[in-house]
Amino acid sequence: MKKHTTRSIRAIKGKEQNLNMLTCYDYQTAKLLDSTSLDMILVGDSVGNVILGYETTVEVTLNDMITFSSAVKRGAQNKFVIADLPFGTYATVDSGLKNAIELFQKSKVEAVKLEGAFDTNLELIKKLTQTGIPVVGHIGLTPQSVHEQGGYYTHGKNEQSAKRLIDEAKALEEAGVFCLVLECVTPAVATLITESINIPTIGIGSGIQTDGQVLVINDLLKMGSDYPPSFCTPIADLYDLKKSLISGYLDGSVSH
Ligand code: KIV
Repeated sequence: MKKHTTRSIRAIKGKEQNLNMLTCYDYQTAKLLDSTSLDMILVGDSVGNVILGYETTVEVTLNDMITFSSAVKRGAQNKFVIADLPFGTYATVDSGLKNAIELFQKSKVEAVKLEGAFDTNLELIKKLTQTGIPVVGHIGLTPQSVHEQGGYYTHGKNEQSAKRLIDEAKALEEAGVFCLVLECVTPAVATLITESINIPTIGIGSGIQTDGQVLVINDLLKMGSDYPPSFCTPIADLYDLKKSLISGYLDGSVSH
């Protein structure tokens, strides 16, 4: 499968084809995904939760993102890879520009993602795209703002919240993002946003009417002991499988 570009991703808008994106954090999994028909890989700052054991993504640093994104890029040379700009690294336009350039140059990813549609972000997105760094937007539940948003919940449930999300989506498109992640947005509002903008929307926990879907690979394959979020039905239980194999190896019932 031919590697995507920002142009081919944009071109999917309005077509029947659905964009598939999964998160990835390590070289071996990246190599595996590289051999599939997956459209895009996201090195999400969810690495903080699912790999590093942090309570929230707020603890993830720029160096963490550079380390994990570089590993993924070494494994997935034929995929379009996006890396999250972590918490606090784009609080101002100048720091955002400096940190995004460092992440982009060192990890060699194809694009960066940032959360929210604050004025600073809009200005930063313009500067980044002028510099040559493609940007993905992310609205709705934005985990880096979990404390400010007051927890994890579905957004767009009332008229005011729905209007704000639609305005944010339009502002981000205008600023220059080439696609937009909608996390935990009501399916009705996700559909409205998808119809209101000319760039692809990638949903997570936001219904099925978006132009694509993204999932955390650890949820999809149930790689941990916790049950994944309600919107993700795992297709396997790798945690149980690994546990029973290792127990079997230890008690001698599984030979090698
Ligand atoms: O960090 C992440 O994995 C994400 C996805 C949930 C969209 O941002």
